[in-house]
Order: sequence, then structure tokens, then C-alpha cells
Amino acid sequence: MKTFLPVNEPDLSGNEKKYLQECIDTGWISSEGPFIEKLENGIANLCNRKHAISVSNGSAALELAVQVIGIGKGDEVIMPTFTIISCALAVVRAGATPVYVDADPLTWNMKVGDIEPLINERTKAIMAVHIYGITVDMDPLLEISKKYKLKVIEDAAEVIGQTYKDLPCGSFGDISTLSFYPNKHITTGEGGMVLVNDDELAERCKSLRNLCFGKTDRFVHEELGWNFRMSNLQAAVGVAQLERLPETLEKKREIGRLYHQHLEGCESFTLPLVQTTYCENIYWVFGIISKIKSKDARWWMNKLAAQGIGTRPFFYPMHLQPTLHNGSQTKGKLPISEMIACYGLYLPSGLTLCEDRISTVCKKLNS
Ligand SMILES: Cc1ncc(COP(=O)(O)O)c(C=O)c1O
Repeated sequence: MKTFLPVNEPDLSGNEKKYLQECIDTGWISSEGPFIEKLENGIANLCNRKHAISVSNGSAALELAVQVIGIGKGDEVIMPTFTIISCALAVVRAGATPVYVDADPLTWNMKVGDIEPLINERTKAIMAVHIYGITVDMDPLLEISKKYKLKVIEDAAEVIGQTYKDLPCGSFGDISTLSFYPNKHITTGEGGMVLVNDDELAERCKSLRNLCFGKTDRFVHEELGWNFRMSNLQAAVGVAQLERLPETLEKKREIGRLYHQHLEGCESFTLPLVQTTYCENIYWVFGIISKIKSKDARWWMNKLAAQGIGTRPFFYPMHLQPTLHNGSQTKGKLPISEMIACYGLYLPSGLTLCEDRISTVCKKLNS
């Protein structure tokens, strides 16, 4: 391969430039401007939620979600260990303790069957994080939350446009979050969204993202807020991206189909599931797991990098993160997540990929 093939590339070939030009021509470049409302309404509609509150990134969305549903000191939140650190950081920063669940070896999502034994009087919420294109099995999770009166936070960052049993991701539980980082199905460069139905929670999110300015006396602030605002420039890109979401999802599915086709019969890897009983994979990224003990993800990544192919390792589990480790869960306790973190990597999955390049990547892997 002559040029380096990046692991991800956004497609900005729609109305992105036109809408950005509109922002510049009209001077609406801050967080006040018409594209913000357009994007919020469009995403609320997509996710079947009453309110969508734009924020500066997906990690900020999680911080807000955890805060507004009332998680605080002494609480425990049950969540996957196999996820991005943003999920655990939001919980830890709120003064609460993450309690980790191992991953399912096939879907790589949290094992919903492992949640119930972890519940005690301190448990306040369950955080469901959809991983790599397949969703968490939400029905049994929601049943558990109902039985024990627990809040549910849904992190749908990686599955914008995906459905669980025909219902849109981003519509489950008390509150949901999205990310619009450039590798997501909708990008705004940097950006995110909080989704809720409850009017009060929505108002609180809006206030907290905007420094909690006073309602009567602007500079007498009501709470300790943040500046988590999205700019109209970012929202302009997001609106153009949202217009083409069906195409984007079709492209992701096509990438998934082609990788499966070109890696068929390859004995060295476990490939991602094509579907479960409740959803079809939309391949946010195409992850593979090395089956060869002596060749871990790093080994494959180095080989591929030497041939001009960009990859990423799977998430490193939260229970092993030095900065988060609280001594209560140690190595060996959540073995599936540890195994997939060691042997899992994902292949180029960007929207500009063509079959030729996928075929080349697979030929290198097969050889
Ligand atoms: C599942 C999940 N949640 C949250 C985030 C954080 O989003 P951001 O990078 O926009 O802060 C990511 C980022 O990739 C993610 O994959």
C-alpha cells in the first residue's frame, strides 16, 4: 500500500462546507445560532426523545448525565469494564464507585446476566454502553433496573442510528448520551449530546452546560456548572452529517460485509458477530480478536503498521486502569475483557474506505 491507510476517516462531502459558510457569512459562530437548535431537534427526533441537549463532547455528556440523575458520594454504578474511560471518569468524579461487569465473549458488550448479583443498598444506577456496533441486551437490563428501582444511563456514542429490537439507541433508560467525535456516525469535529424525556432534567442539563448562569441575576450562578457548550460551527457540520446518516450506516454495513467476505475461512481471528437476536451489527468499527496465543493485538498492529495499515487496540478494561483502580477488583477477575483487550484490535473502518483497500488489508492478514 503506497500511502498510510488511517484507521478512521470522516466523510465531509455533503453540505458541511455550505453550512459552515453560512455561519461565517451570518456571524453565528458561538453556541447561539440556528444550527444548534436544528441539530438538537434532529437528534431528538432520531432518538425518539423529547429533549436533546448539545454539549462539547461525549465525555462531557456523560459528566452531565451522571450529575443530573443524582449520582453522588457513596453511590455505586454498575457498568462495563470493557469501555472508554469517559464512562468511569464521570462516575468517579461524582464521588461514586464504578462496579464493573465483564464482557460477553461474542458481543463484547456487558454481560447483563452478571448485573444482579452486584446490586446492594448503595447501587444507584446501571450504565449501559453499546460497544462497536452491537447493542447491549436492553430488555433484561431494564427489567433489573425496574425491579431494584435503579436509574439507567445509556451511552450510545458508538451506535448513532442503530436500533435495539427496532427502537432507536439513545431512547433507553432515564438519560442517554452520544459523541460526535470524527470516528462516529455523525461528527461535529468534537461534540456530544445528552438525551432525556424529563423536562426538569433537560433544564438542569442546559443550565449545567452553561455555567449555571442566574435566571434573575445573570452573574450570580445557581450551581457549580461547566462550559460544555457546542458552537454553531460544530452544529452546522452535525446538521449536514445528520442529513446523510442513512448513507453512512449503509456504508458501515457494507464495510462490515466486505471484511467478513474477505476474511471468510481465516482461522487466525474471531470476527465480529453479524447479528444477534435483537440487532444487526452496524460495524462502528470492524474488530477482530487474534486466536493465536503467541500473537497478541500489538503483534498484529505492528505488522500491519509496517505495511501502511492503521489499526487500534481494543479498550483496556477499567478494572485494570492504574488511575482508577480502587483495589477491590484485580487482574483475572473479569477474564473475558482482559482477553479481548489483549488480543483484540480493529481494522480501518473509515467512511472513505473502498473494496480494494479492504481486500488489500485482508490479503495481508491472510498471509
Ligand atoms: C462509548 C463511548 N462513550 C463516550 C465516548 C467519549 O466521547 P468523546 O470522545 O466525544 O468525549 C466515546 C469516545 O469514543 C465512546 O466510544
